[in-house]
Amino acid sequence: MTTASTYAEFAAREAHGVSPAYERLAFAVSEDAELPALLERLPPAKRQPNLLFGVVRLLGGPVDDPAAFHAYVLANWPAIEAEMRVRVTQTNEAGRCAVLLPVLTALPQPLALLEVGASAGLCLYPDRYAYRYDGHVVGTGEPVLDCALTGLEPPATVPRVAWRAGLDLNPLDVRDPADLAWLDALIWPEHAHRRARLRAAAAVAAADPPLLVRGDLVDDLPALAAQAPPGATLVVFHSSVLYHVPPPRRTEFVQLVRDLPGHWVANEAPAVLPHAGTPEPPGEVLHQVLALDGRPLAWTRQHGQELLWFGPSMSR
Ligand SMILES: C[S@@+](CC[C@H](N)C(=O)[O-])C[C@H]1O[C@@H](n2cnc3c(N)ncnc32)[C@H](O)[C@@H]1O
Repeated sequence: MTTASTYAEFAAREAHGVSPAYERLAFAVSEDAELPALLERLPPAKRQPNLLFGVVRLLGGPVDDPAAFHAYVLANWPAIEAEMRVRVTQTNEAGRCAVLLPVLTALPQPLALLEVGASAGLCLYPDRYAYRYDGHVVGTGEPVLDCALTGLEPPATVPRVAWRAGLDLNPLDVRDPADLAWLDALIWPEHAHRRARLRAAAAVAAADPPLLVRGDLVDDLPALAAQAPPGATLVVFHSSVLYHVPPPRRTEFVQLVRDLPGHWVANEAPAVLPHAGTPEPPGEVLHQVLALDGRPLAWTRQHGQELLWFGPSMSR
C-alpha cells in the first residue's frame, strides 16, 4: 500500500463514524501534494496515521482543520519526524476489557493475567472496572465501560485475578506525567469519554501498580510466565499488538504461546492474526477478532465499544 492509500483506508475503515476530525484529516493527507512524500522519509512502520496525529497533538499542533494541520506539519517537520522515529503507538484502552470479559470469566478462576504489549497495563484490571452491556451492568468499579453486545448473554460477574503482569518493549507508567501525556495524545480528538476513562483507569493502576517488565513478547515471555503463581490459571493475552510485530516473529510468538500452560486470548485484526474458521467480517469498518486458544469467537471494535459473538456460548 502507498502512504496515501494507507491514510485513505484509515479514514474509511477506522475513523469513519468514530472520529470525524481524523476522518477529515486522514483523507486530506491521502490527497495532499507534499505530506505523503514527507512521511515516506520514515521507515514504513513509522508512517501510520495514529502515530503522526498523536505526535502532532503531543506537540500542541492543530488536528481539527486540515489546512492548519498541513501548515503545522510543514513548519514543524524536524520535531515531528524526531518524535515519530522514537515513538510507537501505545494507545492503552481499558475499554478493551469489555470484549475480553466473557472469555476471562469463563476460564477456571482465579486468573494469572499476563498481557504482552501491555503499554501502561490498563487492561490488566478487568476485575476492578464496571461494565455496561446495553444497560446490563456488571461489576461496581470505575471506569464504567460501555459495550454493545450481540450473540451472547453478558457475563454475570467480573473475574478473580490472583496475579497481573505485563510485558512491553517500552512500558509506560501512568504516574509519570510525560507518559500520561503521550497516552492522552493518542486518544482521538472528540473522544472525551475515552479521556475520562484513561484518567479513571490510570487512578486504578496508580493505586496498585502492575508488574510491568520491559521486554519482547517472544524473547522474554517464558521467563515472565514462569513467575505466575501455581493454583491460578495463566492467561496470556494481547490486544492490538501484533501489527507492531513482523510476520515471522508473529509466527514464533504463536508457537511459543501455544506451548505455554494455561490459555491464550487474542484480540487482533484478522489480517494480522488470521484464524481458520473466522466468518466473513460484519462490514467494511475494521473489526478485530477475539480468539481463545486460536479458536475465533467474536468480532470486536477497536476501542472495545462492540462485541459481535459468533462462537459457541461461554459458560463454566
Ligand atoms: C497499541 S498498544 C496496545 C496496548 C494494550 N494492549 C491495549 O490494548 O490497550 C501496543 C503495545 O505493544 C507494544 N509492543 C510492540 N511490539 C512489542 C514486542 N515485540 N514485545 C512487547 N511489546 C511490544 C508497544 O510498545 C505498545 O505499548
